[in-house]
Amino acid sequence: MKRVLNKELNKHIGKSVKLCGWVNSRRDHGKIIFIDLRDRTGLSQIVFTSKCEPCGLSEKLRPEWVIEITGEVKKRPKGMINPKLETGKVEIKAENLKILSEAKTLPFAIDTSGFEINEEKRLKHRYLDLRRGRMANNLRIRQKVIHFMRDFLIKQEFTEIETPILTKSTPEGARDFLVPSRTGSGQFFALPQSPQQYKQFLMVAGIEKYFQIARCLRDEDPRGDRQAEHTQLDVEMSFTSQEEILNLTEELYTNLVKKIFPDKKIAKTPFFRMTYKEAMGKYKSDKPDLRKNKKDPNELAFAFITDFPMFEYKKGDKKWGAMHHPFTMPQTRDIKEIKKSPKDILAYQYDFVLNGYEIGGGSLRTIDLDILTAVFEVLGHKKEDIKKNFKNYFEAFSYGVPPHGGIAPGIDRFLSVVLNEPNIREVIAFPKTGDNRDLMMGVPSEVTQEQLKELHIKIAK
Ligand code: AMO
Repeated sequence: MKRVLNKELNKHIGKSVKLCGWVNSRRDHGKIIFIDLRDRTGLSQIVFTSKCEPCGLSEKLRPEWVIEITGEVKKRPKGMINPKLETGKVEIKAENLKILSEAKTLPFAIDTSGFEINEEKRLKHRYLDLRRGRMANNLRIRQKVIHFMRDFLIKQEFTEIETPILTKSTPEGARDFLVPSRTGSGQFFALPQSPQQYKQFLMVAGIEKYFQIARCLRDEDPRGDRQAEHTQLDVEMSFTSQEEILNLTEELYTNLVKKIFPDKKIAKTPFFRMTYKEAMGKYKSDKPDLRKNKKDPNELAFAFITDFPMFEYKKGDKKWGAMHHPFTMPQTRDIKEIKKSPKDILAYQYDFVLNGYEIGGGSLRTIDLDILTAVFEVLGHKKEDIKKNFKNYFEAFSYGVPPHGGIAPGIDRFLSVVLNEPNIREVIAFPKTGDNRDLMMGVPSEVTQEQLKELHIKIAK
């Protein structure tokens, strides 16, 4: 017999069906035992009467056991209808019961929001925490959002392309995760902080419209809105303009909210737009929260902040850093000016902001290699090192590069804001703790001496 899902039961009234799932709860009324059976689509009520054959077995059942039952789908008597459940009009008269797997008592409740439970405990048993309705729902909505983005961009002739995870350090401003190479003694791969250089190479390759649901890795201390691994909707276009990129982003998010979050109200369309200078002057923040009513959980105030400074002075390091990244195009082509007064140079850089969070960033890119060299010089690189360190970039750009630019909205941050979650861990299946550990897998962890030897690594004690 083919398995039927809880959500399909209303179609099977009067028929015998097979259901599989978890015992959500069990109520023993002596001669009659009720089980709420949970599958991915909901709950259904199973009735075991003392007259039915599997009753003896059903007495053993405990919460979270995995079972298979067959039985007849019956309309519930009028007074017994549960209007809160999609399957509340029916129940199953059990005819047969098979126990597929037993379960120990869970370490925590899964029928609550989960916020009352120590988070490390939830993360250690994340596979149980994800049984929680709120968490399962967050994962499904995440998938819907990603599906919508894919669909939207593919319809506009973007090509989705995967780029390597084992790669070279990219100057995005965070610390790299390094992977030792077995074959090249003393050499390392870096995990990508973003596919920034690859997507630019794809423009040189003539792809013109690229996107990727890209995993980005940055070795920074996690916070509520920051993880060592995060996911971006990475986008790049050739022969484009800032205006086109912002309009595309606006159209994507407006339609996405309409379709997937119909209860949400976008505070203003077209989205708020202001320069960095205006935002800092008026709100003292480059990611202002522009909601009319900050207590309204359904208001979404999207904004684009534009015209960021190209450079920021890093007092700690006593040197200039790139506000976004070095590949961003300065608003002047005057090389002398770039080198003379870095603080006054603006960039074609924009951030995408929602309710006080930076949910995306992007820029037009420099394709003029003399300007790029000047930018690197301001950042403290020696002229001879620049050509060496960014040889691939300089070479690629010498074979006919289209003007290009892009954006990368962070998917985790958007989801946590739109789902009113307190942090991005609630929208990620397997996030890391505040000190960057995965408690479920028990990593980071030590490796064997043999592995270290193969990688030419000695651990300094
Ligand atoms: P940027 O570094 O601004 O740009 O990142 C883009 C967006 O990604 C999200 N984000 C993060 N989310 C969670 N945890 C993190 N550690 C984290 N870091 C970033 C933010 C951010 O706005 N390559 C460029 C994009 C481009 O120029 O096209 C880039 O990565 O929402």
